[in-house]
Formats: sequence, C-alpha cells, structure tokens
Amino acid sequence: MAKTLQEDNERGAPPSQAIVMQMVVGAWMSQTISSVTRLDIPDLLKKHGPQNTLKLIQEYGVDAKPDHLERALRACASIGIFTEDAEGIFGPTVLSDVLTSTSPVSVKKFTEVFGNSWWKVWSGLPDALKTGCAQASAQLGMDYWDYCKANPKEMEDFGEAMKSNSRNSIRGALEYCDLSGVRKAVDVGGGFGHLTIELLRKYRNLYGIVLEMPDLIPIARRRLAGEDKDIVSRIEFAGGNMFDEVPGAEVYILKHIIHDWDDTHCIGLLGNCHSSMVGDGRVFCIDAVLPPMGDTGGALAKFLDINMMVFHPGKERTRKQWETLYNTAGFKIVSVTSLNDNFGTSIVEGRKM
Ligand SMILES: C[S@@+](CC[C@H](N)C(=O)[O-])C[C@H]1O[C@@H](n2cnc3c(N)ncnc32)[C@H](O)[C@@H]1O
Repeated sequence: MAKTLQEDNERGAPPSQAIVMQMVVGAWMSQTISSVTRLDIPDLLKKHGPQNTLKLIQEYGVDAKPDHLERALRACASIGIFTEDAEGIFGPTVLSDVLTSTSPVSVKKFTEVFGNSWWKVWSGLPDALKTGCAQASAQLGMDYWDYCKANPKEMEDFGEAMKSNSRNSIRGALEYCDLSGVRKAVDVGGGFGHLTIELLRKYRNLYGIVLEMPDLIPIARRRLAGEDKDIVSRIEFAGGNMFDEVPGAEVYILKHIIHDWDDTHCIGLLGNCHSSMVGDGRVFCIDAVLPPMGDTGGALAKFLDINMMVFHPGKERTRKQWETLYNTAGFKIVSVTSLNDNFGTSIVEGRKM
C-alpha cells in the first residue's frame, strides 16, 4: 500500500480510502436526488426551462429556502443531474428527465419512495442483522403491506414505483414467457396490471387475471381508464389473499413476489398455484437468481437481497434454493433465463411434476 499521497498519485489509482468513502456517501447522493425530486424540481425545469432557486420558489411554489435549495441543486449538478451556470441558474439534463413524471422511462416515484418511507426502514438494518427480523414493523409501526393499506398514497406510489422498475422485466417476459395457445393466466400480486396489460397486447386470445390485495383493486381499476377497450374486456382484477387461494388458470406469473417471502410462505403460494392449475400448466417466477457462494458477482442483486432482509421476511435466492422451492411445491424447473439486467433478474419457468 502506498504510504504517501504522492505515491498514490504516482500509481494513478484512487487510494482505497477514497473508493470506500465514495461507496459510503452514496447515501448522501440518493437522499439529495430523492429530496429535490419530491419537490418536483426535475418536472419544473423540464416545463419552464433553466431557473434560479428564487424563481422556483416564488413563481412555481417550491416549498424550500432559496439558499438551501441552491446547495442541493448544486450538489446534484456536480453529478450530472442538472446543468449549472455562474449565475446559479439550473437546467434539465438527460438524467433529470428520467426523474420527471412525463418521461416514458420515468423513475420519479421509485426515487421518491426510496428516499422517504424506504429510507426509514433501512435505518433498521443493524437490528435486522442482530435479530434476523424484518424492520418495517419497528420503523413504520406495521408490516409494509399493512402500511400501504393504511396509507393509500404510499400504496399508489409503491405501485407506480414497481411499474417504473418493471420496464426491463416486462420486455423479458414478453420475449421469453411463451403464452401461445394459453387461454387464461394469473399475474399473482400483479400490482396495477402493467405486465398483464402488455401480455394481453401480445396475445390477443389471452384472458388475464391480476390477483392483488383488495385495497389496491380500486386504484388499479381507475388506472385502466383510457386503456384499449379490447384489453379492458380481457383483464380482471381479483381482490384476495394469494396465501389463501389463487384463481384457476393454465399459467401463473409471479413477478417480484417470491423474493418478498420466507420459504414457508413461498412453498404455500407455489402450492396454491399447483393445486389451482388447469391441466399441465406452467409457472413463471420473475426474480433475481443469485450466483452461488464463492462467485462475488451480482452486486446489485445482493444488495436487493439486503433490501428484502430489512423490509420483509424475504430474500433473493440461488438456483439451488429456487430448485428446493419448486420441487417442494410440486414443480420442476425447465428453464432459467437471465434478463441480463443489473439486478440479476431471471425468468424461472416451472412445470408440474
Ligand atoms: C414487490 S410488489 C410486485 C408487484 C408486481 N408484480 C411487479 O413486479 O411490478 C408485490 C405485490 O404483491 C402484492 N401482495 C402482497 N401481499 C399479497 C397477498 N397476500 N395477496 C395478494 N397480493 C399481495 C402487493 O400489493 C404488491 O403489489
């Protein structure tokens, strides 16, 4: 290891301390981005063009102190989120565009909830490590799904965050989940039905059921307004508890469901799909498949696993762990297709044994 700053500079590599510090203060960046996004700054700059903070506050009603907001926008500009000039005028960039509500690839809601309720839950990570218990109840007063039920805005924002996080996996599902000839499919815990709607667009003879928590159903139905009439006639939102039973169908799709739950719940849920399945159908789980122990790849999937640890009694799983779940519930894995995204998302396809 280099002993002096000069030796470090001569090696041309950042010192280890700088690398670790950058990782550690990554939380400052995500918090700052989330806070200015919650103030709608990316939307306002997109709509009205470059502005200083006084104008953002006085003309567009941003609820902030000018000097403090300027410091937050300057920090964001330093990592490319906004432009900044010598007069303290900030403008939009391609990065701020994805933080707007009008971007077709918007991650605005994801960014907003990430810095808000999700951040509170993450503060319980030391306790999760110590006790082995999820921390939503300790930090929010109830488990995360009950918190969503008790806070309709959180439920809507969470659903929107999931939708914005689904673009890649929906593309993957359309490419690799072959539903030719299938008449009925259930999207278990399908949120607002974003995946089902795209499958119905592709398969014109398919009928899709989105099974969801009853409180989410009216929000999902409202959001269908304006959708193609043919799609509306082939989609059904069913309120219920997936651990009690699932509607009958040839195919079950569970996207980002299994990783929320412990093995007992997952085996029960897959078992429900098995017993309601019409004929020799298939189950498609879309979730991370972690590399085996000893392979240090898959960083984001492994941090997503920590997210599951703090929020839910869930986890990300290796191929071997997926096999145990499927086999115990009466399914055999017939293919695992990686979607090659940062989160290690794959489609795990199973058939009845
Ligand atoms: C991580 S989200 C995934 C949403 C969607 N499948 C996606 O990938 O965008 C988990 C979903 O499971 C739903 N959910 C949680 N518990 C449920 C239950 N017991 N029965 C039915 N749905 C449930 C939640 O409302 C939420 O929409």
